[in-house]
Amino acid sequence: MKKIIELITDTVSQVFEKNGYEGKYGHATLSNRPDLCQYQCNGALSAAKQYGKAPINIAKEIAQDLQGNPMFSNVNAVMPGFINITLSDEYLAGYVNDMAKAENFGCEGEEHPITVVMDYGGANIAKPLHVGHLRSAIIGESLKRIFRYMGNKVIGDAHLGDWGTPMGLVIAEFKRRKPDLVYFDDSFTGEYPEEAPFTISELEEYYPAASALSKEDEQFREEAKQITYELQNNHRGYVALWNHIRDVSIKDLKRVYTSLNVSFDLWKAESDAQPYIPDMIAYLKDKGYAKLSEGALVVDVKEDTDTREIPPCMILKSDGATLYNTTDLATIVERMMLFSPNRLIYMTDKRQELYFETIFRCARKTGLVHKDTRLDFIGFGTMNGKDGKPFKTREGGVMRLEHLVDSINDKVYEKIMENRSMDEAAARKVAVMVGLAALKYADLSNQASKDYIFDMDRFTSFEGDTGPYILYTIVRIKSILAKFRQTIGNKEDIAHYTILPASVLPERELMLKLSRYSDMVTAAYEELAPHRICQYLYELAYAFNSFYHDTKIITEEDKQKQYSWIALITLVHDIMLAGIDLLGIEAPERM
Ligand code: ARG
Repeated sequence: MKKIIELITDTVSQVFEKNGYEGKYGHATLSNRPDLCQYQCNGALSAAKQYGKAPINIAKEIAQDLQGNPMFSNVNAVMPGFINITLSDEYLAGYVNDMAKAENFGCEGEEHPITVVMDYGGANIAKPLHVGHLRSAIIGESLKRIFRYMGNKVIGDAHLGDWGTPMGLVIAEFKRRKPDLVYFDDSFTGEYPEEAPFTISELEEYYPAASALSKEDEQFREEAKQITYELQNNHRGYVALWNHIRDVSIKDLKRVYTSLNVSFDLWKAESDAQPYIPDMIAYLKDKGYAKLSEGALVVDVKEDTDTREIPPCMILKSDGATLYNTTDLATIVERMMLFSPNRLIYMTDKRQELYFETIFRCARKTGLVHKDTRLDFIGFGTMNGKDGKPFKTREGGVMRLEHLVDSINDKVYEKIMENRSMDEAAARKVAVMVGLAALKYADLSNQASKDYIFDMDRFTSFEGDTGPYILYTIVRIKSILAKFRQTIGNKEDIAHYTILPASVLPERELMLKLSRYSDMVTAAYEELAPHRICQYLYELAYAFNSFYHDTKIITEEDKQKQYSWIALITLVHDIMLAGIDLLGIEAPERM
């Protein structure tokens, strides 16, 4: 379905043409005076110069012609030359009815669907997930859904960190604590055990301990470095232990991501790109892209137009070791080879912005991607505590993701128990769903690049621009629909009810909001901006609640009117569900 704003533009443009002006002046926009009109066209102001006429005269001409069109209830010219436009209630209701029948409510997908690799999550093996990884997972999941909704093929990759020094540190820590493990016996030639010699909670302790120790203990640090080197050069025992570390860690990560309603198509990791490195380096050298600089192999990526210092992209360190850059470039090679994507989108916190700029330039310059391959980086801000500093536990440590989620769930649980009649077990279940919505919505409703403050009371509030408010509105509609079905005895099929033209303002406002669904989805898609969806859902929920406040649906005697309202709120319900699904949020049946 065409967007309503496009349909208005088409109609207004035709009238401009009919009156001897260029059609481009008929461009319509949302009204910036919603108290006066719903849409507006400022074309007469721009046309005035070209045709040497007063803008208001052109506007009057056009408005007069449009006035008779059944699409509009009112079109008028106002000084200095605006055309104010209001749709007729019949037209608006017709459009909204069409939406109810159309696939995806009339939201048309991408004309030329593409293949996209999305790199989000980015958790590190053997390190517990913390809130810093939360945003990447939440934003990535939402963008993946938005891109799919628009008809694209999306491959979501967790791109786990499993290759650098942290691995050496963890193995060194194993060696220190459990030196008798067979993995450290160089004379051992048999099969290594299938069972991991540790649990996840044990493993989680290792990295922080090793990292702290390496800061004080030079010898330990050197050992970890040596182990990293040997691991990367296929030391049999280390590789076997490392595989256990990966397995145990990934199993746990899968559990946590599942609980966050975040999923990946691929669970690839940095190590998966290693086989692509030798050929890539040979290529970069042969083609003359890479050169030695102070012993290191680098690709120069500066451009004449740069206004800031862009460092060269280092491919190999002076000791020949590979680094994060090398892995990311090789991952690009791998992705191009396996999936031929048209676009790659990365999500990490914005401190990696310059890093990705360097990687993208290098990939482009050296032809690792095609000329028209799009590379995007979405850098997000930090989640801060009320003190404006990165969010910490009460003890000042890094907050574990699971603890954060638990504390939100507890808070929501309390609220549900306070004012609802639900047994404890049911309330616990609902609290998990609503708590997750509170967290995700709070994160997604902020523009990604901005920092935001973690405010538990606000996030979990059932009122205002929050996840719980959105869910509460959905649940409210569900309950009205259920009550209505009871009154009509569950026999009748309510799917064929038609929405009649609005008779009161809140009803009209609600329809108007609904009619803008596809504009919103398209904007969220084009701008890589899930916060657009949140904003829309909030406005829609608000519009619904105002309408509901003024209307007694269940007791309405005029059946035609009542059925129309049922159809209307069914559409609100369905669109809200589609909207939260794009955010990776689910709604309970009750709350
Ligand atoms: N593991 C990295 C980190 O924790 C994030 C990975 C992001 N993706 C990438 N292709 N570099 O910082």
